[in-house]
Amino acid sequence: MTEPGAGTQISAEVSGKSAKASARLWTAYEAAAATGGALCARGGDTERWFGEEWAATGISIDTRTLAPGDLFVALQDARDGHDFVLSAYGRGASAVLVSRAPVETPPDAPFLLVGDTMEGLVDLAKAARMRNFGKRIAVTGSAGKTSTKEMLALMLRGQGKTHAAVKSLNNHIGVPLTLARLPMDADYSIYEIGMNHADEITPLTQLVAPHVAIITTVAEAHIENLGSMAAIARAKAEILCGVRRGGACVLPIDNPHFSILHEEARRVGVERIITFGEAAGADLRLTKYASDGRRADVEAEIFGARCAFTLGAPGKHMATNALAALGAVSAIGGDEAAAAAALAQFDAGGGRGAQLDLQLKGGVRVRVLDESYNANPSSMRAAISILSSLSPFAGGRRIAVLGDMLELGGQAPALHAGLAEPLINARVDTVYGAGPLTAHLMAALPEKMRGAHVDAAHDLAQAVIADLKDGDIIMVKGSNSSKVAMLVEALRAASVPESDDVAQKAQVKGPS
Ligand SMILES: Nc1ncnc2c1ncn2[C@@H]1O[C@H](COP(=O)(O)OP(=O)(O)O)[C@@H](O)[C@H]1O
Ligand SMILES: [Mg+2]
Repeated sequence: MTEPGAGTQISAEVSGKSAKASARLWTAYEAAAATGGALCARGGDTERWFGEEWAATGISIDTRTLAPGDLFVALQDARDGHDFVLSAYGRGASAVLVSRAPVETPPDAPFLLVGDTMEGLVDLAKAARMRNFGKRIAVTGSAGKTSTKEMLALMLRGQGKTHAAVKSLNNHIGVPLTLARLPMDADYSIYEIGMNHADEITPLTQLVAPHVAIITTVAEAHIENLGSMAAIARAKAEILCGVRRGGACVLPIDNPHFSILHEEARRVGVERIITFGEAAGADLRLTKYASDGRRADVEAEIFGARCAFTLGAPGKHMATNALAALGAVSAIGGDEAAAAAALAQFDAGGGRGAQLDLQLKGGVRVRVLDESYNANPSSMRAAISILSSLSPFAGGRRIAVLGDMLELGGQAPALHAGLAEPLINARVDTVYGAGPLTAHLMAALPEKMRGAHVDAAHDLAQAVIADLKDGDIIMVKGSNSSKVAMLVEALRAASVPESDDVAQKAQVKGPS
């Protein structure tokens, strides 16, 4: 499993709160009406009806992150949430949504009894959508979903009350959870929709019924499950079937599979097709990109009008994500200029391109480009291009610490070996590899670029740290389950508290 947030990872990623902590999200009656469930509480030995005596301020599916006031939904996933009901009450849950009456409850503790708690969550999601008159934007794609969602949240927060998925909540649980957390009066809401297989996006996009759907890119992620690139493109295009009447989609014109996406948009009858990218004819066209490796200065033509903005993160892929987000803002009638101006505040999150300047305990100063959150061939190339744009200082080197890219099926060895060329072109000095697939890359690299190769990431940390020299820049990237993130942690642990020293001294390349 590598699609962030899809599948089993979900419960660990949930935080208890929606946009506004203190606001009432669901009263008991509203939740009962939405789910058709029974409002209960155990009074002594009997169950009795309870009145409108609770109101939830958020929704939680994980007691570890439950906030006081949340409605705790006891889902049956890897573990049975019903086992955590008592702990939910203990942490201050306003009520619990269950499919069987809890055996042990504090006296009078309220619960909402439904036939199936997953269906209950979906019912809350549907009701939340129907009572909200704001605009909804859904984002899918092989990479860039979370970044684009975060850009949209940043842009729209300045324009109205905005609700957005937490982290990468993007699967059959995360999407209804995000929707069920939608405040009634939100002006805008943004959903990330992920997939590992065909037909996963369809029910989720129909649930969200977005006014605008964005497809960031189509790349080789999950080709193992889907079989071909065309099948991946069609699976991403499923997002289009949920778009509301009169709605729009935003599609990547430079992508080799654009024509499939475009055809699908036509076929399912999306009224307005907006394109973004570098190609002539894009509705939102990138005309100039320059970066110092930390931020980017971007110029674009947006429906024919020139627009220049600063983006708080480097990478042409981030600049095109920003254009996709601006396309969506435009489609919902938002203020594009204000949205573009907000992008200066954008910050690539931990694992998605954040840069850390560290001083190792021995005095060696290095910069870490933390791309450890996930990887597929397309995002790997994007990250390598950022590494190439960063200039080491004081005789330092460019170093790549790479983990396996998973779920690539039979093409995996070739796709790993294929990274040798971009790494050479990026003037990377040394490549370290973790995992059996990166062995194919190591074999394809010139001898002088080969650093250590190990089977598991945790065997790499000491070797990498021991080899580092003053001024080195180290990019860390791999599929989530390759666990290369632990390298970043190991580097932090081996460092004295952060200083800006390296940032000031690094000789970053001028506009490129
Ligand atoms: N449009 C894009 N094309 C290729 N790679 C991208 C794109 N957008 C982001 N990336 C890279 O993909 C990785 C994951 O980004 P993220 O926004 O978390 O995507 P997702 O939520 O789709 O997994 C990051 O390392 C980032 O640098
Ligand atoms: Mg994500």
